[in-house]
Amino acid sequence: MARISYVNGSYVHHQEAVVDVEDRGYQFADGIYEYIAFYNRTLLDGELHLRRLERSLNELRIEMPVSMTAMMLIIRELIVRNSREDGGLYIQVTRGVAKRDHPFPKKIRPVLVMTVCGPKTPKPHEVKDGVAVITTADIRWGRCDIKSVSLLANVLAKQKATEQKARESILVRDDRSVTEGAVSNAYIITDKGVLVTHGLDEKVLGGITRDVVLRLARKAGISVEERSFNSVEMNSAAEAFITSTSANILPVVKIDGKAVGSGKPGPVTRKLQELYLTYIFKQTGRML
Ligand code: PDD
Repeated sequence: MARISYVNGSYVHHQEAVVDVEDRGYQFADGIYEYIAFYNRTLLDGELHLRRLERSLNELRIEMPVSMTAMMLIIRELIVRNSREDGGLYIQVTRGVAKRDHPFPKKIRPVLVMTVCGPKTPKPHEVKDGVAVITTADIRWGRCDIKSVSLLANVLAKQKATEQKARESILVRDDRSVTEGAVSNAYIITDKGVLVTHGLDEKVLGGITRDVVLRLARKAGISVEERSFNSVEMNSAAEAFITSTSANILPVVKIDGKAVGSGKPGPVTRKLQELYLTYIFKQTGRML
């Protein structure tokens, strides 16, 4: 099956997809991205992801490379050309190409790249039995709400987790508050059954999965608190889990080698997993 990518107006064989060495994304990480899952060729929460893409661009004062309508047409065409039913769509927009100089160049056009890959859904045993995570210092910059391609701190945190055979690094600030995961949002369930996750501010990414999961939780009558919690509270939580476009909802059963609650996925997490799978099915017709 030929893998086709989109680069600034052209559909090309993936091996031939190239960008300029003076692309500001390459030299300054001056750009943003989105990762969207699709099932049955239908984007999961496509509109929410594209709205976030637009927001990230606005925050960095990068122009939309094409209209929203054109963006949707390109996405549909790319998925068809890749002959994939299920998979992941990566969209990247950088400020553009110019001679290397820090300030925004005057006449510059954004560069739009899209690639498609196979589904990144978690392994069945991770969904069923939960995953182990570690905690790592949150050394990121002050605008984590922007989905910037500047991901070095996230890469280092995720690498540390991988080396310790953990699924994720949960990021903890100097004041011991837990922000999110290296590539996911983080949640705890208190012994009173309250779902707690960091509020939306510049310290975390407003995850699309987070948005949906909180809506589903409230609808199901689960109390939700969007506030910061610290590592002490996390270590004594009844349950914990992480969410992202590729992980969906994964129960966290071990933090830094210590069991969370009973050491098994808890009932609130289970309920949310079930609700989220139904949500995916209703939107895309795919039962995972
Ligand atoms: N990561 N927080 C961070 C730092 C992330 O990188 C991600 C997603 C999330 C969850 O966001 P969402 O639910 O919209 O996927 C939270 C993506 C999947 C990635 O980097 O590939």
